[in-house]
Amino acid sequence: MIPVRTKQDFLVFGSPLIDEPEIAEVVACLKSAWIGTGPRVALFESDFATYKGVAQAVALNSCTAALHLSVLVANVKPGDVVITTPLTFCASVNAILHAGATPVLADIDPTTLNIDPKEIERRITPRTRAILPVHFAGRSCDMDAIMAIARRHDLKVIEDCAHAIETEYKSRKAGTFGDFGCFSFYSTKNVVTGEGGMVIAKRDDDIARLKVLGLHGMSKDAWKRFGDEGFKHYQVVECGFKYNMMDLQAALGVHQLRRVEGNWHKRGQVWNRYMEAFASLPVGLPSPVEPATRHAYHLYTLLIDEARTGVTRDEFLDHMTRLGIGVGVHYLSLPEHPYYQQKLGWKPDDYPHAMRIGRQIVSLPLSAKLTEVDVCDVVKSVALAVNA
Ligand SMILES: Cc1ncc(COP(=O)(O)O)c(C=O)c1O
Repeated sequence: MIPVRTKQDFLVFGSPLIDEPEIAEVVACLKSAWIGTGPRVALFESDFATYKGVAQAVALNSCTAALHLSVLVANVKPGDVVITTPLTFCASVNAILHAGATPVLADIDPTTLNIDPKEIERRITPRTRAILPVHFAGRSCDMDAIMAIARRHDLKVIEDCAHAIETEYKSRKAGTFGDFGCFSFYSTKNVVTGEGGMVIAKRDDDIARLKVLGLHGMSKDAWKRFGDEGFKHYQVVECGFKYNMMDLQAALGVHQLRRVEGNWHKRGQVWNRYMEAFASLPVGLPSPVEPATRHAYHLYTLLIDEARTGVTRDEFLDHMTRLGIGVGVHYLSLPEHPYYQQKLGWKPDDYPHAMRIGRQIVSLPLSAKLTEVDVCDVVKSVALAVNA
């Protein structure tokens, strides 16, 4: 197979678009007196809250931290159950386990690839305390159905919005339905800070506790203790975590967030190009975006069914790599992993939709950084890889 791109020109999957304003801000931050948690984090929190239309947001060092703290602040205790999806990153269930609770999986809807509300309802027992839906790839979960279940059974809802910064459902932004909304700014995400996360919450007292737990359990605004107002005493009021974001990260985030809508439009154009280009190929395409929702266009996924495509998913991955195009897998279903099999007794075929999709799914590059030539190369390579 003759590569479409040379080795030097390999198209890296998920490469972020970093522009001059954030580079200058990082340099300014480095040259300032303060690189740790400080005024740039405070600005990023308030800009993010404004973007989401909420009063407050808490910046952390990852979405994993945001999920972990949300489960704790939701008052989920050891022995309690949190229901989530099998088609997600391991962080979604690890956060539940770190809080001492038990994750229970509800299979996905094979069309949307999101958790199926009917499956959630089937899994509810007296031990269930919370639902943790994941807006997979940036497609909104069925939030009316999920919130109705939560109300009926008095459950907390923690939205995993790692893929869903721009997602909307019936004109309302993802992360504002549940008690908590958790966001990621990891290097491949739609807004990047290298590593980073943000959490929003409905209740002011939950926000206050998230802030305290995210910085060692130290009393309010402990980061100000070395500021120009002189040393401030703090009190440790809980056994918290070292989950705070640094100003260096927020320096990237504030400028990235200013371009979030422009980048969303660019990815939307790439998405539409892919949809058109692959319509005639023997591959499964993402289902159309549901009416009255907004897709964040975080992941563009294809399904490679060997019976239809003529190659296995893993052969397709290899072909794409050899052609010079970086690809990803989001995700092998969680019950495929040995840790969860051993600890929780999960079996992949208990979640047949997630198992099948997880074995067929491939993510193609979908970054605002893609040039016209990059997109043409991806399109060309997919056609070659399925005919190889
Ligand atoms: C669905 C989902 N949840 C949670 C996370 C964790 O995010 P972070 O890397 O910011 O901790 C990710 C990251 O890839 C993710 O994709």
